[in-house]
Parts: sequence; C-alpha cells; structure tokens
Amino acid sequence: MIDEQLEKIRVDADSRIKGASSLDELNTVRVQLLGKKGALKDLLKGLKDVPPEDRPKVGQMVNKVRDEIEGSLKARMEAMQNEDLMKRLEDERIDVTLPARRHKIGHPHPNTAVLADVERIFTGMGFEVVEGPEVEKDYYNFEALNIPANHPAKDEQDTFYITKDILLRTQTSPVQVRQMEAKKPPIRMIAPGRVFRADEVDATHSPSFHQIEGMVIDKGITMADLKGTLKEFVQELFGKDTKVKFRPHHFPFTEPSAEMDVSCFKCGGKGCRFCKGEGWIEILGCGMVHPKVFEMSGIDPDVYSGFAFGIGLERIALLKYEIDDMRLLYENDIRFLDQF
Ligand code: DAH
Repeated sequence: MIDEQLEKIRVDADSRIKGASSLDELNTVRVQLLGKKGALKDLLKGLKDVPPEDRPKVGQMVNKVRDEIEGSLKARMEAMQNEDLMKRLEDERIDVTLPARRHKIGHPHPNTAVLADVERIFTGMGFEVVEGPEVEKDYYNFEALNIPANHPAKDEQDTFYITKDILLRTQTSPVQVRQMEAKKPPIRMIAPGRVFRADEVDATHSPSFHQIEGMVIDKGITMADLKGTLKEFVQELFGKDTKVKFRPHHFPFTEPSAEMDVSCFKCGGKGCRFCKGEGWIEILGCGMVHPKVFEMSGIDPDVYSGFAFGIGLERIALLKYEIDDMRLLYENDIRFLDQF
C-alpha cells in the first residue's frame, strides 16, 4: 500500500522533473515535492498509522525515494546550468578570424601635404625650418626690406594695420630680417607661415594664405647658387624632367630680382589648357639679397652675399593637385579633402 503510493510519487516526481523547462520551474517542482506541503511529507504524517515494527522499514523506503528525487533534481539542475552555459558561450562567440573594423583616420590637407614635401626637400639640402610672428612690425614687414614709408608697394599690398606701426604681415619676408638680426652667417633657412592681405575672396585670392620664405647667406653666394638650389627643389617637387626659366623682375629687397617659371608638368612645355597655352607656369619670386637689407640687418654686404625666395603655398597645392579654385582649400568640405 505504502510502497504503491511511494512508487506513484516517484513516477510523478520523475515526469515533473523532466518536464521542468527552466531553473525557476525546477525550483518550484522541488518545493512541491520535498517541501512542507509536499507529497512525501504527507506520507510521513501517515506513518503513525503504521505498526511500530514496520516503521523503520517504511521510513527507509521513504528516505530512499526522497534520495532518488533529490538525486534527479540535482542531475536535472546541473544539466540545465550546463545548457545555459553552453548557450551563453555560443551567443557570445567571437569570430577572431573576422577582419577588424577599419578605423576612419584623417589625411593631410593639400596645403599640409605640400608643406611637408617642401620642408623635406629643403631640410634635405641642409636648410633649417624657422618661424616668425604673424602680427608684425611695419619695420620688419616693409622698412627693413627696403620698402620705404611712401613706397607704392605698401599700397599695392593692401595691408591690414593694427596700429600705425603694427600690422598683419603681408609676406613671410620679414622673417629674413629677424633671422639676419638673430644669427651669424652662414644661414640657410625656410620660413613657412600665414600672411594677410586685404583681398576679396575669389578663385585665386584670399585675405589669408601661406607663403614659404627661403634664404641662404654665406661668403661667396652667387646667382648660380640660387638657380641651382631652386632648380633642384622644383625637380624634386614636380619631377626630374621639370625645366626652369628665370624672368627679370623687381622686388625692393633683392637685386637682381627674378620670377621663376617651371615647364608645365601637364603638357611638358608644349602648351595646354593647364598652362594657358604658355608651356610655363610661374612658381616663385627670388633674387640676391639687396645690400641695403644686409646693412639694416647688421650683416656686412662686402663680406657676405645671399639669395632669397618666396613661394605661395596654395599656388603650389592648386597646381600639384590640379584644383581650380582656391576657396576649396579653405572650406574643408570632407568630400573634397577625401580625394587627396
Ligand atoms: N615677398 C614676396 C611676395 O610676397 C615674394 C618674394 C620675392 C620673396 C622675392 C623673396 C624674394 O624672398 O627674394 O610677393
């Protein structure tokens, strides 16, 4: 009688344990089977009706079933925990063979790229890279460069004045003077930087752009050094086949002065749309440092000589990357910049 009841409890427990589909459910089943109000407890309450001599045996039987139920509960629980773990491992699986996601990195602005090229080429020839102030004295921007107070160049250059004597530099040439005052020759320097002129914005003008000034001073420097150095520079920048041509020009701070053209790197000099049919493209201004500039800067022109040059950075960037509007260089539209 009791063993039938026990067998029923065991079978019932077995199917409920198997039927539980989660750890929570299994816990509920455990309480129902083994708890205070569970079927086994009920059965034990009936033990008092069993003849005393049979009680130990019945007790043993109940305990056995109880142990069995506990055993299968434990087994089922472990199986479930294991399944959970496996499922989580599967869900959180990382495919280490997948290629990594690419980081979006920036890239140099055309101005920056050209400046890096120019600096690389000149430092390779033993030049030092120096800087000067953007807010400059009239003295360094004009007077010390042999541009006297009433010289028309001062109007031509449409200067932004801060006070009567202080201005935004219109050229990087004042750095020449500052270097000559600060150092003893030999001097070999380039000075890149921002310059300012009261120009309207259009495809070829901006109130703020960049120049790279260059200067070499030593004993016995001649126009041949100027030509050789600048030819080497443009052949490094635009290619070995680049030819150069010097045209006489005028700058107050050099004598003689010249503008240098390079053979068109698009058509090789035959003449095309790019060079406006000329075959040549103007690239920089240059000349031999004027004796008056030497004197004002405290260098003896009877002992030393030197050459200087000024390059428009944007102009080179526009040419090199075949960009036809300078404004594109300042708008920083990422769709435009992405192309270089
Ligand atoms: N400063 C001149 C300009 O802004 C460029 C220049 C010409 C610089 C000749 C020089 C030079 O050093 O020798 O147009």
